[in-house]
Amino acid sequence: MLKEKVLKAINQQINNEYFSAYLYLSMSAWFQGKGLPGFANWMFIQYQEELTHGNKFFKYVHERGSQVVLQPIAQVETEFSDIIEVFEKTLKHEQFVTESINKIQDIAIAESDHATQSFLKWFIDEQVEEEANGQEILDTLKLINGQGNGIFMLDRELRQRVFVDSTVTAAV
Ligand code: FEO
Repeated sequence: MLKEKVLKAINQQINNEYFSAYLYLSMSAWFQGKGLPGFANWMFIQYQEELTHGNKFFKYVHERGSQVVLQPIAQVETEFSDIIEVFEKTLKHEQFVTESINKIQDIAIAESDHATQSFLKWFIDEQVEEEANGQEILDTLKLINGQGNGIFMLDRELRQRVFVDSTVTAAV
């Protein structure tokens, strides 16, 4: 059984991950509406990844003989002023997720929960990649000033992204 503080923090994180999924799905819809299918694809894959993150926490709680309690998913933003704003918000959100996972790790350490510390390692590593991905696209967008031919090229590039369930491949 997970200790109460650890369980509470993970239940909150499950909500954070599904909120992230919903946020990126909303961003994907926004890109679709702007006629940018490559960006929409990238965000849709981001959405799928977040679902797998939520599911990974969900399964872990039950593996430890504890109970998941789902909370409502908050309203996500549906309107953005431009592409750069979308990726600034993506990066900011990932930084928030990183901080929130670090806080769970702090709780697991304080509670001497070694199994949770080991479990969280995957997420700590994953967050480095999540932030780097967002930062890379944001840097490119700033370079091309968020407009013109560069956007067309970047949209084509982002169309190539395919979904890989890293929570599964990592376990093999
Ligand atoms: Fe599940 Fe993008 O953090």
